Amino acid sequence: MDPNLLILGGTTEATALARAVAAAGIAGTFSYAGRVAQPKAQPLPLRVGGFGGPDGLAAWIRQSNVTHVIDATHPFASGMSRNAVAACAACGVPLVALTRPPWQAQPGDRWQHVPDIDRAVDALGERARRVFLAIGRMHLAEFARAPQHFYLLRLVDPPEGALPLPDRAVEVSRGPFTAEDDAALMRAHRIGVVVSKNSGGDGARAKIDAARRLDLPVVMIDRPDLPARHELHSVEAVLHWLDHASTDLGV
Ligand SMILES: NC(=O)c1ccc[n+]([C@@H]2O[C@H](COP(=O)([O-])OP(=O)(O)OC[C@H]3O[C@@H](n4cnc5c(N)ncnc54)[C@H](OP(=O)(O)O)[C@@H]3O)[C@@H](O)[C@H]2O)c1
Repeated sequence: MDPNLLILGGTTEATALARAVAAAGIAGTFSYAGRVAQPKAQPLPLRVGGFGGPDGLAAWIRQSNVTHVIDATHPFASGMSRNAVAACAACGVPLVALTRPPWQAQPGDRWQHVPDIDRAVDALGERARRVFLAIGRMHLAEFARAPQHFYLLRLVDPPEGALPLPDRAVEVSRGPFTAEDDAALMRAHRIGVVVSKNSGGDGARAKIDAARRLDLPVVMIDRPDLPARHELHSVEAVLHWLDHASTDLGV
């Protein structure tokens, strides 16, 4: 059977994979959650929006005759990734995750590891601080219980409606970013601490490199735990897996 992929996207890695898949003449659909106003165009047919949990995803996989699923979502998109594991197991369709290895602290880094967003809020403490909160827009409300801090927010789209943080500045930018620019931004806002997810990859690491240069502490939110699944770290490795996965179900 010719491959017919479902690529779960929303990352630069997913976009790179879609390009390679289209160039190789492999059929597939690219799926976005629909979180940003103008998602990057893709060279594959697009679908946008949730599937309706693991059962909805399993139904979609069956209806669309999907032969392989590639989960190239962000390492913190844990709901989608859990659903992909469950749905692919239910359908007997091979699944691979295209992931970025997490960042590792380097000499000069001052990271405080926390397991989740809630603990990141606690880690900021009682005393008012100037925080670069570079975690996207989805979890800003969780910082509302620490309104004493100034927050510099970097968002892909301009915020819609009121933000829950009274003392803040908003930078609208999609990146990629450079350490030089991020260091200048942090200096301009007199930032004293950075809050980051351990996303891994090059696109988002500028703020971490900038924090090291400026000798600033980083509250580093560790990745969520996910069920065991096959993971690969490059587009080439996924293309190679595609050549073999149909005869090697469940790799
Ligand atoms: N979390 C981050 O820090 C982050 C950063 C950069 C980019 N992103 C991207 O933004 C998207 C949403 O991330 P999230 O953290 O909100 O995910 P999430 O919490 O794991 O997903 C929540 C729900 O959104 C839907 N969904 C997520 N990704 C989808 C996709 N690619 N295609 C179709 N439906 C999707 C699913 O709904 P149903 O259950 O209804 O299927 C999923 O259960 C992902 O595509 C991710 O790659 C996330």
